Amino acid sequence: MPASPTATHEHIKDVNTRYHDAAAEEYDAKWGIDFGEVGQRQVRLKLVKALGGKKGRSFGDALEIGSGTGYFSLNLVQLGVIERLTATDISPGMLKRLAATADALGLEGVTTVQTEAETLPFEDESFDLVLGHAVLHHIPDLDKAFAEFRRVLRPGGMIAFAGEPSRYGDTLAALPKRAGLALAPLWRRAVGAEERAVAEGEQSHDHSLEAEVDVHAFAPADLRRLLKSAGFEQRHVGGEELLSNAWGWGLRTVESSAEPESVSFRWRRFAFNSYIALQKVDTKVLEPYLPAELFYNLLVSARKPD
Ligand SMILES: C[S@@+](CC[C@H](N)C(=O)[O-])C[C@H]1O[C@@H](n2cnc3c(N)ncnc32)[C@H](O)[C@@H]1O
Repeated sequence: MPASPTATHEHIKDVNTRYHDAAAEEYDAKWGIDFGEVGQRQVRLKLVKALGGKKGRSFGDALEIGSGTGYFSLNLVQLGVIERLTATDISPGMLKRLAATADALGLEGVTTVQTEAETLPFEDESFDLVLGHAVLHHIPDLDKAFAEFRRVLRPGGMIAFAGEPSRYGDTLAALPKRAGLALAPLWRRAVGAEERAVAEGEQSHDHSLEAEVDVHAFAPADLRRLLKSAGFEQRHVGGEELLSNAWGWGLRTVESSAEPESVSFRWRRFAFNSYIALQKVDTKVLEPYLPAELFYNLLVSARKPD
C-alpha cells in the first residue's frame, strides 16, 4: 500500500528511516539475503539485465543509493565488478549491518555514508557507477534524486537500478499474499510448523509503518521519462521475475505465519529450489519475449553523456 498522497516528503523520509532501522537486524533473514555464491550469481544477473545484456563490465568508484544491508553492492564487490564502494542509506541501522557484513567478509574499499538520495554529500563527477536495488520506489522527489545521480557521475558513467516494483506487478503481488494468508493454517498443519506468536504491538507497529514507506510503483514509461529529463543517454528499461515473484510472495506469506525454528530444513530447501527453478523459467522463457510492464520488477540503466 503506498504512502498517503498528502504525506509530506519529510514525513515519508522519517518513516523510511524508522521502519528500516527497526528492520535492519532481521532484514537478511527475512528476505533470504545471501552473500555467498547464490547471492553473487543473482546480483550479477540483475546487473547484466539492468545494463541491457552487457556482460563483463567493471567499475572503479561506485555509489550505492539505499544500500540496505548490502545485498546488491557487497556481492558486486566480491565479484570484482566494483573496486571501491560508497554505500549510502537514509537508515543508520542498515548501514551498521552493511559495515559488519563487509568486515566479516574481509572486504576492503567499502565506505558507508548516511544520507538521503535527494541531496548527496559528494563532489561533482566522483563516481563511475550509481546503483541501487529496491530503493527508487521509496524516494519522494525522483526528479531531484536523478539530477543528483547525474551530477555525481563522471562523464561516461552509468546508472543501474534493479528490483523496482512495476505498477502491474504490485497489484499482482496482492494475489499470492492473499492466497498465502488463506492457506497458512493448512500449510502449517501439512509441514508440522507452529503458529507464530506475535509479540504485543509488534505487528501493528510494523504494519502501520509498512503502509507508509512505499511511494511509487512504476510503469516503464515513468522511468524512461525520469532518465530522459535528467539528461541521460543510452536509456534502457527492462522487466524481470513474474512466476518466481508470485511464488516467492506466497512462500513468504505462509512462512511468516509460523515460528521460524519450527519450519523444517526440508521445507526451506524445497521453497528455495522451487523459487530458483521458477526464476530460471522467468529469465529464459518469459523475460526475452514479454513486455517489461508485465513483470514484477523493473530494471533501468543509462549513461551520462561525455
Ligand atoms: C527495500 S530496502 C532495499 C535495501 C537493499 N538495497 C536491498 O536490496 O536489500 C530500501 C532501502 O532504501 C532506503 N531508503 C528509503 N528511503 C530512502 C531515501 N529517501 N534515500 C536513501 N535511502 C532510502 C531504506 O532505508 C532501505 O535500506
